[in-house]
Amino acid sequence: MCGIFGYIGNKNCIPFIISGLEKLEYRGYDSAGMAYIRNDSVLEIKKVVGKVQNLKEILDFSDFSKVGIGHTRWATHGGISVENAHPHTDCKGNIVVVHNGIIENYKELKELLINKGHVFKSQTDTEVIPHLLEEMVDKEEIGLEEAVKELFKKLEGAFALLIMDKRNPNILYALRKQSPLIVGFGIGENFIASDIPALGDYTDRFYYLKDNQMAKISANEIKVYDMGVGKYIGVEPIRIPQDRIRAEKNGYPHFMLKEIFEQPLVVRRILSTVNKNRDELQIEDIKSIDISWEKIKKVFIVACGTSYHAGYYAKFLWEEELPYFIEVELASQMHHRNLRVPDETLFITISQSGETADVISTLRKVKEKGFKVLSLVNNPQSTVARESDYFINLRAGIEIGVAATKTFMAELVYLGLLKEYVKNKLYKVKIDLDKWNMLPTYLENYLSNIKDQVFETAKKYYQKKNFLYLARGRNFPLALEGALKLKEISYIHAEGIPAGEMKHGPIALLDPETPVFGIAYKDDAYSKMINNLEEAKARRAPIIAIGNEKDKKLENLVDDLIPVPNIDPFYYPYMGVMVLQLFAYYVADLLGREIDQPRNLAKSVTVE
Ligand code: F6R
Repeated sequence: MCGIFGYIGNKNCIPFIISGLEKLEYRGYDSAGMAYIRNDSVLEIKKVVGKVQNLKEILDFSDFSKVGIGHTRWATHGGISVENAHPHTDCKGNIVVVHNGIIENYKELKELLINKGHVFKSQTDTEVIPHLLEEMVDKEEIGLEEAVKELFKKLEGAFALLIMDKRNPNILYALRKQSPLIVGFGIGENFIASDIPALGDYTDRFYYLKDNQMAKISANEIKVYDMGVGKYIGVEPIRIPQDRIRAEKNGYPHFMLKEIFEQPLVVRRILSTVNKNRDELQIEDIKSIDISWEKIKKVFIVACGTSYHAGYYAKFLWEEELPYFIEVELASQMHHRNLRVPDETLFITISQSGETADVISTLRKVKEKGFKVLSLVNNPQSTVARESDYFINLRAGIEIGVAATKTFMAELVYLGLLKEYVKNKLYKVKIDLDKWNMLPTYLENYLSNIKDQVFETAKKYYQKKNFLYLARGRNFPLALEGALKLKEISYIHAEGIPAGEMKHGPIALLDPETPVFGIAYKDDAYSKMINNLEEAKARRAPIIAIGNEKDKKLENLVDDLIPVPNIDPFYYPYMGVMVLQLFAYYVADLLGREIDQPRNLAKSVTVE
């Protein structure tokens, strides 16, 4: 995680860096810092604990520098302190570095450097880098550029690095190995950042550095060196229109609320790529995928967090109608699995960021074994998208809120459509697209009808300290997601439990202070769910439930019923998800939490 930003040109870099870091803050906000070379000669390093706002408060905006690098940190090695904040420098204060990733062999390198007389100021892994460069430049007498290239050989682990040298303010070096880094091409100025929203205000031309590439960036030139090829290579920037990059709150108090309300639009956008030509279903992003679906014996879905919940939901959905055994696993658990699967196994990875380290390592591991991987990602330029055999662009648009909402909806919808597509391919059955096409409108109406009631319910319960989310079958992954959303942004302890499992232990947690949030609409799990809610009621737990409107039985049983309309059950899960998201949002807001940037979290988790 961590966000890094660099500027080189003829203007003052300070406002660019601040604005860039603000847009990258979703990647981590434990501390912030920047380095610049005042009047082409004096190296200034400013660092604070906390957010970019704190950094702004200590800056001297009358300083002028044509080059600078900045960092917003999600702490991994070394606690949250000013010393551990980036940038880090060498002994003499010439070379400065900001880093995203983890240097796995930093302990050995640090010991080696200490033995050579280097003095360290922080507990970070990053600080070895400027010292290593200093050692190579001063003692081995190689130029900085050669020393920078050597880093690819000397550093183990993942890194995106920006390197600046006070003695040569005309050059910035940027290196990438397994952590994202994008160069933005300007006119008489150039930019570099961990993610594209930080660049979208200044340019629409970008180059995504690939693993083991280094960019040598000056105000008028960007040269890319590829370690694999062993020389400078020509690169063509891609154009991404600015309106696809910029994210604004559009009057909403938080990005998360805006993104919840954007979901009908996202679904409409996805459905606009779906067509029926006679009885053959065509989906723009899926048509180029030449998987022999009839040969597949097993589907193995791998993801983390919210994306894992989407995959888990799809397991139930797919197993109902497709002839495959579907396995779902957390990407972080895949390291510990000894894979024994048939050769005809299709792996599916799901990741909104496409940069989640656990997912990337699984992807590489299974590809090494010769399996094909299909990925669902919200960033077509991401590592997961690029390294997968096939990928589906989720088309959710940039999601800024750290808690995933609209990307989850996009994952559910695409996994549902993919199931329809495969069913259509395998069995030549007709797909009812009308049902799908009504979904955005239903969601739109539902959101505006239900939001006040969800807010009132949140008002009743927001001071509770524990919540249990109960559901059965395919609704269980949604209960997990509801609980995850609540704990992430409100810091209230919440657990998702399969309702049938309560009696095997968790029921001991129930008391009048522990609300139960049940998903109990009229689907095939309904009657068993009612029994489970009765059991909770008997233990005097307050009950909130998502269920059908005018369901008298449920109304009499629960304290608060958040109704879905009595329409085709096909729509209920999508509606239920929005209720769960809104409930978490309103609870967190009533508690005054930092909703878009909850503590300790980051939007893209690039460490394992
Ligand atoms: C939850 C959340 C995280 C992510 C998880 C995987 O709101 O955002 O749990 O879902 O870190 O991230 P991606 O989907 O980017 O791989």
